[in-house]
Amino acid sequence: MAVASLISGVPTLMERTFVMFKPDCMERGLLGSILSRFERKGLRLVAMKMLRITPELARQHYAEHVEKPFYPGLEAFITASPVVGTVMEAPEVVRVVRDMLGATSGLKAAPGTIRGDHSASRQMNLVHASDSPESAAREIALYFKPEEIQQWDPTLACWLQAPDE
Ligand code: PPS
Repeated sequence: MAVASLISGVPTLMERTFVMFKPDCMERGLLGSILSRFERKGLRLVAMKMLRITPELARQHYAEHVEKPFYPGLEAFITASPVVGTVMEAPEVVRVVRDMLGATSGLKAAPGTIRGDHSASRQMNLVHASDSPESAAREIALYFKPEEIQQWDPTLACWLQAPDE
C-alpha cells in the first residue's frame, strides 16, 4: 500500500506494510527488543493493537495456505496466545521489513536478521510481514479500521531521510 507523504515539504512515496508479532514472540518476551529494531531502522509506526486471533481470522489471514497440510498446525499456533499487529510506513517498507526478518525458516535465515538471530523454526518464526504491497493492503484492512491508522510526521523524520530520497 503506497501513500503520499510530505517530508520537509517534498512529496515522498511512502509505502505501508502489516507486521505482526506472533504468539512465540509474545510468549518469549521478545516483542520489545524486536520492535526496537524496526524503530532504530527508522520505520514509522502508524498503528498497533494486541489481539487474540480467532480460527476464522486465521483462515482469512492465511487464505492461500488453508488447504495445505501444515495449515491445521499453523492455525493452532497462531491462535494459541495473543499477537500484536502493527502497520509500519516508510519508502520500500514491504521489502525492507522482509529483508530484516530473513528467510521464512529460522533455520535458513541469515545471521543478523531477526529470524536468523532468534528462531530455529519455519512455523515459530516470530514475526509475520506482508510479502507485497497488495498483500499489505489486504492484511491492513483485515486488522485495522482506517481511523485506527495514525497520520503523523515524527519530529525526527527529517533526520532519517533526505528530502529527495
Ligand atoms: S513466505 O515467506 O510467506 O513466502 O513463506 P511461506 O512458505 O509462503 O509460508 C507462509 C506462512 O506459513 C508458515 N509455514 C509453515 N508453518 C508450519 N509448517 C510449515 N511447514 C510451514 N510452511 C510455511 C510460515 O511460517 C509463514 O507464516 P508467516 O506468518 O507468513 O510468516
